[in-house]
Amino acid sequence: MSDVFIKLSCRRLNMSEETLRDILTIEDPIFLNYRALIHDYIPPHLPHREAELKEYLSIIKWLLKGEKVENVYIYGETGTGKTVVAKKSLDLLKEKCRELNAMVKIGYTKTNESPITTLYTLCRNLGLEVPQHGLSLYNYLHAIEEIAFVPTLLILDEFDKLNVSEQGWKLIHAFSRHPNISVTVISIRHDLCQFLPKDTMDGFRPTRIFFKTYTEQQLFNICNFRAELSLKPTAYDDKVIWNCAKEAYSRPESARFAIDMLRVGGEIARQSNATSIAHDHLKKAPARVEELELERMLFNLPFHHKLLLVAVYQGQRQRRLERDFIFTIFNSMLSKCEKVPVSKRTFDSYVQEMNQKRLVSAIRRGLGRGKGTTWFIDEGFYSLHPLILVLAKSPDLSPFLTMKNTSLEHLNKLGEKRNE
Ligand SMILES: Nc1ncnc2c1ncn2[C@@H]1O[C@H](COP(=O)(O)OP(=O)(O)OP(=O)(O)O)[C@@H](O)[C@H]1O
Ligand SMILES: [Mg+2]
Repeated sequence: MSDVFIKLSCRRLNMSEETLRDILTIEDPIFLNYRALIHDYIPPHLPHREAELKEYLSIIKWLLKGEKVENVYIYGETGTGKTVVAKKSLDLLKEKCRELNAMVKIGYTKTNESPITTLYTLCRNLGLEVPQHGLSLYNYLHAIEEIAFVPTLLILDEFDKLNVSEQGWKLIHAFSRHPNISVTVISIRHDLCQFLPKDTMDGFRPTRIFFKTYTEQQLFNICNFRAELSLKPTAYDDKVIWNCAKEAYSRPESARFAIDMLRVGGEIARQSNATSIAHDHLKKAPARVEELELERMLFNLPFHHKLLLVAVYQGQRQRRLERDFIFTIFNSMLSKCEKVPVSKRTFDSYVQEMNQKRLVSAIRRGLGRGKGTTWFIDEGFYSLHPLILVLAKSPDLSPFLTMKNTSLEHLNKLGEKRNE
């Protein structure tokens, strides 16, 4: 910044030159490169995933020769590096394509509950200008098939989110029968292939690559490597890294948790004006990471699952938690946003899935003497109130959360009352 500019600004702001220079200094005491600790960053190396990277690359590299390659099924627990390995492989493949001038098409998408939305984002990723609404599943499939006149690799990440029973399998069915298209599916379920109809499986027949959960030592090495990329050497020591690795090892989120903990620990240290991450900063980090994780999980839930939470919340407030009552609220909210109401069977499948995630609890109880029993749906492991506050930030739910008495303000007031 020029001295003249500083001098002029000082005069205007009535401030000493030293104070202004102090304010404008953006030297970070903790982070060298904050980006290297966020989720979608792809690091230059992937410690302990070299074998998986090599295995996947050795399959897809034949695209460069103009060949259709094997379908691949990548699976393993959450946070074990499946996405980052796939993305790194794609980056390397794209680089080689450019170098060799090879005609290869590559499309990546995170899978959405709806096959149509999944296909829409896949089309956009392939550079296809398709409308978001008004096309059928077959229109989108056809659009992709039409441009696949050269070897094409399609990656469907987080495939477990796709509603396979709602025609989700048709994607795999159509793509794996195309002469130029190869599909890579990434999922946390090792048995997902069993959910595909037999003739779809016959055409798909993927090579499976399993991602083992990291050991504590491996988490330490990964975390240490990410710290070298992102933190000032003076901001951490081995103890900090071990703390993150140990905490992450005891949780299901593995590497993701370790890296998040390092980032959040760094943020807490920075907020406390410290120049290095101390034990006290790290002690506060897991709770904050959990909070962020919960937010991420809620935002990533399929629309109908989020809506179920809102319906249960409405039921709680009216002290009516019988399944049929929640079902009625659920369908009336669907109609309000011009979506097709669902059958009781489909509704029950949403409840089952949310019950498994412990976001709701479904318990069979009596209705009173001689009146038989029914399912009651209530909050699960977490209290519903904070979840609803998070969901209120989600644009697709705002119509319901701004309805009378469900506004964010009202919810906040309710929360305050509860805490009193
Ligand atoms: N071997 C590794 N080296 C460096 N960073 C890694 C490694 N493995 C995982 N990570 C990092 O850990 C985080 C989680 O990895 P990733 O998102 O690839 O997991 P995932 O298996 O796809 O999880 P999910 O099933 O939840 O989608 C990312 O930030 C990623 O960069
Ligand atoms: Mg992933």
